[in-house]
Amino acid sequence: MSESDADALRAALAGWTVDTVTEALGDRAMRALGREQTVPAQREARRLGGDPIGILSRLFTLGDEVPRSQVADALAGFGVERAIASGLVEAAGAGDADSVRARVDLRPTAAAGADGESTVDWWLASDLGEAVTGARLADDHVLGLGGASTTLAGATMRRPVGRVLDLGTGCGIQALHASTHAREVVATDISRRALSFAAFNRTLNAPPAAWELREGSMLEPVAGEQFDLVVSNPPFVITPPGAPSFEYRDGGVGGDGLVGGLIREVGTVLAPGGVAQHLGNWEIRAGMTWEQRLEEWLDASEVPLDAWVIQRDLLDAAEYAETWLRDAGVTPERDRAGFRAAYEAYLADFDARGVESIGFGVVTLRRPVSGTPTLRRLEEHEGAVSGPLGAHLAAALDAHDWQAGLTDDALLAERYVVASDVTKETYGRATEHDPEHILIRQGGGLGRAVRADTALAGFVSTCDGELTAGQISAALAALLDVPTAAMASGLADAVRGLVVDGFLLPMSSD
Ligand SMILES: C[S@@+](CC[C@H](N)C(=O)[O-])C[C@H]1O[C@@H](n2cnc3c(N)ncnc32)[C@H](O)[C@@H]1O
Repeated sequence: MSESDADALRAALAGWTVDTVTEALGDRAMRALGREQTVPAQREARRLGGDPIGILSRLFTLGDEVPRSQVADALAGFGVERAIASGLVEAAGAGDADSVRARVDLRPTAAAGADGESTVDWWLASDLGEAVTGARLADDHVLGLGGASTTLAGATMRRPVGRVLDLGTGCGIQALHASTHAREVVATDISRRALSFAAFNRTLNAPPAAWELREGSMLEPVAGEQFDLVVSNPPFVITPPGAPSFEYRDGGVGGDGLVGGLIREVGTVLAPGGVAQHLGNWEIRAGMTWEQRLEEWLDASEVPLDAWVIQRDLLDAAEYAETWLRDAGVTPERDRAGFRAAYEAYLADFDARGVESIGFGVVTLRRPVSGTPTLRRLEEHEGAVSGPLGAHLAAALDAHDWQAGLTDDALLAERYVVASDVTKETYGRATEHDPEHILIRQGGGLGRAVRADTALAGFVSTCDGELTAGQISAALAALLDVPTAAMASGLADAVRGLVVDGFLLPMSSD
């Protein structure tokens, strides 16, 4: 699409945004669309008659055939002929009443702007989904905005950066996000079809950053280069031979090898201080924990890296097979024998490697400026995250670096305040005066809770920025009749953890 066509299309679509669609179709229809069910949205959109928001939604998102005259009105200034020439729609004829239908899925999407306050509206083209076509996806299907795309976009640390690599860009959604805070974006994919969609979306949305597209597998197209941020929602799905596979989700490497390979090699394209954030599945084999699987990969990294892995979900091998067979459109209702054969293939493949369950999570890796890693954190968090995870990760990495550079004495010489989202809960028998348990809970971030003894609870409740941690520690030691040094060293460890997780804010790092 030429830039002048893109300008005209952008102008025609200007009023068709996530907000206007949500307002026009209502929450019930939007929630159903999130479950890939189009009926409620179709009913609402048809009720809107010739309203452009209803027409564009019916045509491009819901798979309806729409009379040509209504499409012409909705795309005023761009026109049906240019929509046909751009490959967006096909028309049954040139008459007003002839029907027009979409050849691609096009829908509005929105993101936070670089200032974190404003909203940026985009339109994203991808292949039509199964909910609209009713047919099994093609092997080279190009995915639109999915749950995993949103998870990665939310987990990405959005700071002003120089060069960003979006590995496996698909329709280009992560690259679009990166363009809000990067100087330059390189987006790669093994699929030419995906790169064409990414190129279309780049032209249509005219992002502020320079944005180059390259064809090739994994890190091959960027070997020898360095990036400040690498983001990737890679084709991490584990698929056995004999089960249906798709370019968008299967890397063609056995088991979880693609994710392991990425973790081992991504450091080679990170600039010092550069961060890689990606999603992945990992196999948990009999007699092994998920952390051990990740540790194996991290230990084998070609460049030593700081690592923070958050496992967000865990499925047993059978649940995993069912999930991805359903995603592939293989169901017992459609093809009983095919479903059974593919299910068997999954379980035989997992059993051959002793795989009992499969983890899913967000991996954040950083090439330390000093060359020596100081962080390796592997944790599980299946619950909801309040607010963008990326902002929490960025603040936690800063806090980690701040405390890692301090001795215990220096840490205790600081003054701290308690973050505004932190509360205290006490539990105990109703008949007892003193609580049995004290929990210090965080409202934002990962919503963590820390169990505190009397000393730590007393310490936190005294952190109002007046006294240093050392002064509070000495007072508590006297009050609780504990040796001063023992109190100080116990509290120093706890303070490090509370600072990293954002419960305590050091006054000097304002
Ligand atoms: C799950 S999709 C992610 C698309 C998009 N980045 C997002 O976040 O929604 C994975 C993408 O990786 C691409 N891909 C598959 N194998 C690849 C490989 N070996 N190297 C690079 N990209 C690959 C697929 O074509 C697909 O576009």
